[in-house]
Amino acid sequence: MTISTKPMTTTRFVVEVEGIDLSKPVDGATVAALRKEINEHSILVFRGQSIDNDQHVAFSRNFGDLEIHTVKQYLLPDYPEIIALANRGENGTTPIDNGGAYWHTDISYKAKPPMGSLLYSLEVPPEGGDTMFADMYAAYDALDDDMKARIDDLRAVHGYEARFTKMGEGGKRPKLSAEQLAEVPDVSHPVVRINPETGRKALYVNEGFTLSIEGLPMDESRDLLDTLNAHAMQPDFVYSHHWRVGDLVFWDNRAVMHCATGYDTSYARTMHRTTIQGDMPI
Ligand code: SIN
Repeated sequence: MTISTKPMTTTRFVVEVEGIDLSKPVDGATVAALRKEINEHSILVFRGQSIDNDQHVAFSRNFGDLEIHTVKQYLLPDYPEIIALANRGENGTTPIDNGGAYWHTDISYKAKPPMGSLLYSLEVPPEGGDTMFADMYAAYDALDDDMKARIDDLRAVHGYEARFTKMGEGGKRPKLSAEQLAEVPDVSHPVVRINPETGRKALYVNEGFTLSIEGLPMDESRDLLDTLNAHAMQPDFVYSHHWRVGDLVFWDNRAVMHCATGYDTSYARTMHRTTIQGDMPI
């Protein structure tokens, strides 16, 4: 298989990958080439795919073991590796129409957050429902030297419960059980994360799950997080993906954060996500 890429943004943090059919097994050389691409570009877009659940899982497993989410109500019954982000539900899953509609990095609240996520679109509304991505390498690089010096050795606390509760307001979600809470204790990660394969530094905080900066008084911690989040969300660092049916987008959670956007929910939106396990951030 010979793949080629073409940039989708001027900064090349998003590329479209051509010459690959994800319904077929992918050979080792192609997997290695894709690993190199994602380290370099952070977001790989594969258009015009037609894959079933087995093929989605099989392609994802080329990049590592898959995460099984703590909350089971959105997992496909026969494929617990797949989260159905489906506003009409699917095969008994709970409908979800505002799933990732806040800036976040997938599952950053775990000690070993996922390296990457692969989101595949099955049904999309005619307008809206885009997913925005922020380039956290570019966001870090653009900070001034004083801010870099201030944050380089800081650590931040990430947690899930507060966000889950907020998303469930109005009775939309049951409370997390004691067993689920035990799976997701608050964790601490560096504010500046280094990709061990390339040495590149990325800003690693997000609006969704980062609760506080360790060692700072609460108001100072809140101010710093607000400043860093607002900085990273600037249009210069953001790519908005407009979905077509059959798109699969593979993003590097070490390098980007993302946010789903609104749409007319009288239309169906059905997306499947697999999530690749990752390492302890350094
Ligand atoms: C996610 O947050 O992983 C899903 C984003 C989306 O549905 O656009």
